Amino acid sequence: MYRTIFLLASLWMIVQSYPNPDTNAAPKNDEFPIVTTPLGQYQGSTILSRLRKPIYSFRGIRYAKAPVQDLRFQPPVPIEKHEGVFNATVDAPLCPQPTSDPVSEDCLFLNVYSNKLPKGTDKVKRPVIVYIHAGGFYSVGGASYWAGPHYLLDQDVVLVTFNYRLGTLGFLATGEKDAPGNNGLKDQVQVLKWIKQNIEAFGGDPNSVTIMGYSAGAMSVVLHMVSPMSVGLFHKAVAMSGSPTSQWTIGHEQLELAKKQAKFLGCPDDTAANIIKCLKTKPANDLGQSLPKFQEFGTDPVMIWTPVMEKDFGQPRFLTAHPITLIQNGEFQKVPFITGVTTDEFAQKAFLVVNNETLLKQLNEKWEDTAPIPFLYERKTDNSKTISKTLKKIYFDDKPIDKSNLAKLGELYADSVIGFGVNRAVKLISEKNNASTFYYKFSYQGRYSHFYTPDSNGTKPYGVVHHDDLIYLFYISKLFPLFKENSPKEVEMVTKLTILYANFAKFGTPIPTPNDRLDNIKWEPYTPKNQKYLDIGNKLTLQEKLFEKRYAEWEKLFPLDKYAKIKV
Ligand SMILES: *[C@@H]1O[C@H](CO)[C@@H](O)[C@H](O)[C@H]1NC(C)=O
Ligand SMILES: *[C@@H]1O[C@H](CO)[C@@H](O)[C@H](O)[C@H]1NC(C)=O
Ligand SMILES: *[C@@H]1O[C@H](CO)[C@@H](O)[C@H](O)[C@H]1NC(C)=O
Repeated sequence: MYRTIFLLASLWMIVQSYPNPDTNAAPKNDEFPIVTTPLGQYQGSTILSRLRKPIYSFRGIRYAKAPVQDLRFQPPVPIEKHEGVFNATVDAPLCPQPTSDPVSEDCLFLNVYSNKLPKGTDKVKRPVIVYIHAGGFYSVGGASYWAGPHYLLDQDVVLVTFNYRLGTLGFLATGEKDAPGNNGLKDQVQVLKWIKQNIEAFGGDPNSVTIMGYSAGAMSVVLHMVSPMSVGLFHKAVAMSGSPTSQWTIGHEQLELAKKQAKFLGCPDDTAANIIKCLKTKPANDLGQSLPKFQEFGTDPVMIWTPVMEKDFGQPRFLTAHPITLIQNGEFQKVPFITGVTTDEFAQKAFLVVNNETLLKQLNEKWEDTAPIPFLYERKTDNSKTISKTLKKIYFDDKPIDKSNLAKLGELYADSVIGFGVNRAVKLISEKNNASTFYYKFSYQGRYSHFYTPDSNGTKPYGVVHHDDLIYLFYISKLFPLFKENSPKEVEMVTKLTILYANFAKFGTPIPTPNDRLDNIKWEPYTPKNQKYLDIGNKLTLQEKLFEKRYAEWEKLFPLDKYAKIKV
């Protein structure tokens, strides 16, 4: 029991305590719209937005065949046209993971939210925002309680959310023909193909698709930019708090991880073929539930399953080389791009480590061997030891880690898990992008957060941590209330963020014309020379050179030239 609670909390970023979700969620009325697409008919329901406008809500639409039995560990298989009316009124189960919410291996479903459906000659075509959910490639999902449309749909956009396969079920990569990897990402490509084929029926414009992702979803967004599979399937991109241009290793396989998974479930781990054969016989939930066994230092590492550079077995490949190599070569889709971070990102993990004797002792006494786990760099090499030593010097001046340098440990978590990779992405992409690149820091600290100072009884946010900007973009009924007129500060941020992103989806620029509601600010694109970014705080302000000194140290530790040599 304790374990389950601990896990749940740690997965969606260690929520120690949080206010009760509002039970007065927007009421349903009795409208059940039907749309007709090339794949058949779907019946949805109607919910109300924050401003009480009707949202035509189609949930639980199947976008690929059930990835079960022979299809487990296989790339997604497109569905055929269905007869009759598909019931799209309820959330689909999440993909297998440790949670008390419904899960199923049959989890490849998406949701479409629209506030205007085409009628007769009124061929409405709204920009489409496709949200790729967070959760480290091993948790969370697209269900409406994780990503409610109630805020974004007060803007004239169509929103698509969805599940993709997670953990071993989505990312098994033995480096051989029968499991070359990236299936969870290929699921996402299948969603984009579904949208291209079907979204017009929901009032969406298939020629204006913005992919928007958070954390693992943000990594996915940047991967779609460099993937040959995603060419022509999107037109703008937003990567919030995540990037695969980080210091963590992207290899050709994760065979060691597959072996671990095999051992955890009592399977032989001698050959890739035997691993797959045995894992195919195990209940999907056993795979999903085994997540905590992969954690090596508290709830670290944050990244376990990763994309891989697929070897060529003749299969359609999602990723053909290292994303850094591809971006440096200009081999990516040149589209308007927004990326950024929150002020403190994973700083709350520092708090948890410093307040846990066991973890603190291990970190101090075995720094060189331990640091690569939470801070996500190569292990057990001479270079690894050098990196560990340098980080100790830079962040702690070689002093022991304790409560006195908690803030520094917080910065190390923020920079290693998120900040450096995002900063490297904005530099590299803006260098070669011929469309605009925008950079931001989300620093608004409101009443709500994904991590409260534990002795504050859920009243004092610890900082502006990972996911805290999502609170104002989606109604996350799982954790937070629906902000209404009696939450004017929150409503102000909801208004700002939803306008910025709807503008971007529409025009490819977040502030086409400065105006009062956006603090009359002009958001200038980032260039390697000007290094401008928007600080999204109590007011919007334009700043430059975000955490420049901190990231410069990382640039030195992980030099770019090595990526030129990586070949597949
Ligand atoms: C759709 O499915 C839900 C949940 O199973 C059910 O309550 C509802 O009656 C169904 N609607 C139709 C039209 O069958
Ligand atoms: C400290 O961390 C260890 C290792 O993750 C864990 O087993 C233990 O429960 C934690 N202690 C507290 C008091 O949280
Ligand atoms: C960017 O370059 C590509 C070719 O690399 C071209 O097709 C596209 O039109 C250009 N876009 C802009 C905005 O100049």
